Amino acid sequence: MDTTLNVSKPDSARVVVVTGGALGIGGAISRRFASGGDHVILVDCDAPAAAATSSDIAAAGGRCTVLVGDITQQSTVATLCALVRDEAGGRVDVLVNNVGDFRPASAVFLRSTAEQWQKLYELNLLHVLMVTHAIAPGMVERGSGSIVNLSTVEAYRGIPGHVVYSAYKAGVSAFTKSLAVELGPSGVRVNAIAPDLADTEQTPSELMLAGRNPALVRSWVPLGRFGQPDDYASVVEFLASDAARFMTGQTVPVDGGTLAASGWYGKTTKRGWTNLPDAS
Ligand SMILES: NC(=O)c1ccc[n+]([C@@H]2O[C@H](COP(=O)([O-])OP(=O)(O)OC[C@H]3O[C@@H](n4cnc5c(N)ncnc54)[C@H](O)[C@@H]3O)[C@@H](O)[C@H]2O)c1
Repeated sequence: MDTTLNVSKPDSARVVVVTGGALGIGGAISRRFASGGDHVILVDCDAPAAAATSSDIAAAGGRCTVLVGDITQQSTVATLCALVRDEAGGRVDVLVNNVGDFRPASAVFLRSTAEQWQKLYELNLLHVLMVTHAIAPGMVERGSGSIVNLSTVEAYRGIPGHVVYSAYKAGVSAFTKSLAVELGPSGVRVNAIAPDLADTEQTPSELMLAGRNPALVRSWVPLGRFGQPDDYASVVEFLASDAARFMTGQTVPVDGGTLAASGWYGKTTKRGWTNLPDAS
């Protein structure tokens, strides 16, 4: 990961809350907003990783406040609100609900448990509702603000083995749409991105390849590579910016083209495409 930051100093820095803002896509989001001169309030349960990201940002002249905590706990959300009051007079311009995880699951739905569904719910949907419920009223009061949620391509395309995760992520995209309509008249925009194939701590590229020939990535991903965290952060930054001022309620795929290709693979001969799994 590139930790080099060049911080610019705009006239009015925004206050940006990033949940899970230490590592992976969230880490890149924290770095990107801070490098634009914004004050990042980073919430993460991994204290050493949060300290490392925060000190990179500070070393580059950026501003980052860290809250270490589990965002699925109401007490962490309450502490976040108190921190926002102390550090920014209660103002949040951008909220990025980034935490999400597919892992606490059984590979087969029929063998999964209610405890796993509950954990997946807390990690993928509940905190999005809780943090938004706590932060959005201030945005509505000020008549401006932008919320960006992290969904997944699997909200649109099936993912056998992770069906409960995909249901909650589809919930994130549905929440994004409906809340955008409710809050639009108040000047608050709500959008989401749907990543695929990000090379992060959660889904390292070696794990995604699982011993296969790296050359196969070309047949799998139209743009021919895995995504790096900043590939996603740049779209989050766009959605939160004035450049996207007439966009709300959308989930934007950031996937190197996999959703567009769904079911189609570049032939290993490098000549054309196939939708037949046994064709070369
Ligand atoms: N990696 C992918 O290919 C991919 C694909 C689709 C969607 N997504 C979504 O993108 C988002 C980021 O994914 P990632 O791969 O960067 O994740 P990651 O696991 O690599 O990083 C997640 C960050 O969130 C923190 N975190 C995890 N649980 C937390 C909690 N309960 N409270 C506070 N902090 C917590 C972690 O410490 C870490 O800093 C997630 O919502 C994920 O579902 C990722």
